[in-house]
Order: sequence, then structure tokens, then C-alpha cells
Amino acid sequence: MATTTSIREVARRAGVSLGTVSNVLNRPHLVAEATRQRVLDAIAELGYVRNDSARQLRAGRSRQIAIVVLDVTNPFFTDVVRGAESIVEDHGVMVVVCNSGEDVRRERHHLDLLEEQRVQGVLITPVDDSPNSRLEQLIRRGTPVVLVDRGSGRPNRCSVAVDDVLGGRLAGDHLLEQGHRRIAFVGGPFSIRQVADRHAGIADALAGSADLTVIPTPNLTVAAGRAAASQIADLPAKERHTAVFCANDLLALGVLQEMTLRRIRVPHDIAIVGYDDIEFAAAAAVPLSSVRQPREQLGRIAAELLLEEIEEGDRHEHRHVVFQPELVVRESSSRPRRRARSGRTRGRVSQ
Ligand code: RIB
Repeated sequence: MATTTSIREVARRAGVSLGTVSNVLNRPHLVAEATRQRVLDAIAELGYVRNDSARQLRAGRSRQIAIVVLDVTNPFFTDVVRGAESIVEDHGVMVVVCNSGEDVRRERHHLDLLEEQRVQGVLITPVDDSPNSRLEQLIRRGTPVVLVDRGSGRPNRCSVAVDDVLGGRLAGDHLLEQGHRRIAFVGGPFSIRQVADRHAGIADALAGSADLTVIPTPNLTVAAGRAAASQIADLPAKERHTAVFCANDLLALGVLQEMTLRRIRVPHDIAIVGYDDIEFAAAAAVPLSSVRQPREQLGRIAAELLLEEIEEGDRHEHRHVVFQPELVVRESSSRPRRRARSGRTRGRVSQ
């Protein structure tokens, strides 16, 4: 049976104290590079693997933080996770990614398991952040939580978000400026606050100046975008909307795909604006105009706030960071008479 190597043998091989080996494993930023490398070499030579369960029993917390995302297939969240990882990795903490799939039951199940696992903290874009939600119970029972991509005025958690109402307004102002007066909003469910806020923003921008039709979707995927676009494409040309604002880029890519299949020209026959400005927006067959979110920065700042709260405990003062979005204009919503160059309507970053 394979014998397990002890931390004592690692210390002896590296010529350091047990405490130094522990610091290399738990607080690597406290150990000089050369010493840290000597210990890591000894760990590799001896094949040492620490048993975290013993440490977890003593500390009462695992060395993990969780990030619960709405849709793990959405590149928006991939970028958010990448930002969070770039911060926590230097602290010897592992990020566990959980996918709620925009389903409140799945979200509850993940939060049950994460509490049992004694994770150090949770970053979450919630499906349900109502006062009596499972998330609220997790917070009340002492697990640090930071809302990501969701504002919150609540005093018992930090949040990092983008002003989605302003984001919707930027899209609406742009489409008005381009001469559109019959516009569709594609997105849903409206129980997701980001969707409701983006709709509220464009509705406010268009009020009294243009017609806005809501085409609700069951989720925020490419397939849902295609289905919504099919409803628009089925309309007689003279009744059809001349522009579509989508609650996120996956929906917008679905709309673009369906319009292309139906030989409806973008932007000549119909303009499209998305939201997030994921990498595939610029790479689309017709480069997509999109309201840009600072995705990795959202993840980095949320992770920094969470680590602060874990470190400071009850002394921690909760903060609510709000970024201003910016509209990136590309070909999908530019008047056809000129080749669109990517141009940005800058917002401000306020914290
Ligand atoms: O997951 C749904 C959407 O919410 C993402 O595309 C992103 O816009 C987030 O705000």
C-alpha cells in the first residue's frame, strides 16, 4: 500500500521548519521565493499530498470559495470567473464553480451543499435574492456572500454590478439616433433583475419617441434568441421592427443567426444590439453592437471584497460597487451607408 509522506519529512528534506512548510501551503505570499521553491521541490520529490480534511476540521472552513453563476455556458460568466480566480489563487484558495441554470431549486441545492462543505465564502449572481431566500439564510448563518453582476442595497452583503438601466438607455438612445421608431426588446425571464433593468432603461429612452415591443424569452440563450427572431421574421415586412435590443449577446447572436437564415439583412433590414460585449460579439459574421460590461473586473472586485470580508469578519463594512456600462457600436446597428468602425460611447466608472 502506498505510504503517505508526512509534512515533517517535507520540512526535513527542504531544511525548513514545519511552520514554513505550512506557510508555503496556506499563505504562500508570506514565504520568500527561493525558500518556497525549495519546499515545493521537496513536496514533488517526496510525492507529498496534504490531507485537507484534518485542517478543515481544525479551521472549521474549507480552503475554497464558490461562485454560483446563472449559466455556465455563457462566456460572460467565464470571464467573471477568470477575474475572480486571478485574485483568489494567490491566497491558496480554490474556486468552485456552480451552475444554477437560472433555476431557483438548483440554486438552493448548490447553496445547501456549499454550506455543508463550509466554503469560506460565496460569489453569486442569484436567481432568487428575495428577503426569505436560501441565500439570505446562508448569509444570516455566517457565510460571507458577495453579489456579482447584481446590485443590492441590503446592508448584510457586498455587491458588484453594472448600472443596467443606464445600459438599456444607451442602447435606446443609439437606436433612436439611428432613426429607428419600431423596436423590439428580446429577453427574459423578467424575474432576473438584469433583464428587467435593461428593459426599463430602453423603455425610458424611447418613451414618446418610438414603439417598443417586448418579445419575452424563457431564458437568455442563443436558441431563445433564434425563436424570438422567428416571430419577428414572420411579420410582414412593413409591420416588422427595424431594430432589436437583446438582453444579452447570446440572444443577439441567435437573432443574427435566424435573420441570416431568413435572408433578412442586418443592419440594412433590421439592426441588432446585444449586451455584455463577450468576445464572440466582435467576431460575429456581422460584428455585433453591444453594451459592454467589464466582466473580468466584476469578478476581480467581487473576489477582493469577499476575501476582505473573510479576513475582517464582523469588522467588515459592506460596499456596493456600481460600474457604468459603455455602448460599443459595430456593424450590426450602423446605418448601412457607411462601414461601421467600432466606436465607444464611454460611461463613467463609479465605485
Ligand atoms: O446570464 C444572464 C445575463 O446576466 C448575462 O448574459 C449577463 O448579461 C448577466 O448580467
